[in-house]
Amino acid sequence: MTALAMAWRAMRRGDLDAVADLADRIHPDLPEDRAVFAERLPLYPSGCRVLASDAEIAGYALAHPICYPHPPALNTLIGALPPLGDALYIHDVAIAPDMRGGGHAAAAIRALLALGAAFPRCCLISVYGTAPFWRRFGFTDASCDCAPGALAAYGADALWMVRLTPE
Ligand SMILES: CC(C)(COP(=O)(O)OP(=O)(O)OC[C@H]1O[C@@H](n2cnc3c(N)ncnc32)[C@H](O)[C@@H]1OP(=O)(O)O)[C@@H](O)C(=O)NCCC(=O)NCCS
Repeated sequence: MTALAMAWRAMRRGDLDAVADLADRIHPDLPEDRAVFAERLPLYPSGCRVLASDAEIAGYALAHPICYPHPPALNTLIGALPPLGDALYIHDVAIAPDMRGGGHAAAAIRALLALGAAFPRCCLISVYGTAPFWRRFGFTDASCDCAPGALAAYGADALWMVRLTPE
């Protein structure tokens, strides 16, 4: 992939095939149907971003409000956003392997945290041992807040992490 001209922008319907393909490549053991991305986009477009050039999609970020601490189950449609959402849930931030290390994920996360400032907290499920990465952005392990078994589908090292919005 070409690092030049890659930039974050709002996700569009026309990106969905590429986003789903990228998700399949990055998360072979945590598969989610294209329909999940296709549903979240119109539900909360401001939380849906892609890292893109004119020719390709090299990353995506997906977030939407939830009622804390109840994330949607993996690969599940939610139908609608909760009317009283009190947390911005970062569903995923994923960068194509050959584009990692360039600060693109950090840029997307800073933008999501700015969006999340409208909520009391941001939260996410850390997978693949990424907790140290998320700690850099102020997230801490709050797995004790989750219902027993809520993280089971995400692997043994999954953690529920929360960042309270600063006053
Ligand atoms: C996690 C991920 C998004 C990070 O992407 P990236 O392009 O490497 O991120 P950035 O370039 O913005 O990295 C920012 C910093 O975090 C560090 N970092 C990256 N992954 C890390 C990890 N797993 N643990 C600790 N630090 C990490 C980088 O070394 C970099 O440090 P530096 O600023 O001191 O150089 C990427 O590895 C990825 O897509 N992984 C697969 C999907 C995934 O795990 N998503 C998160 C789901 S919870």
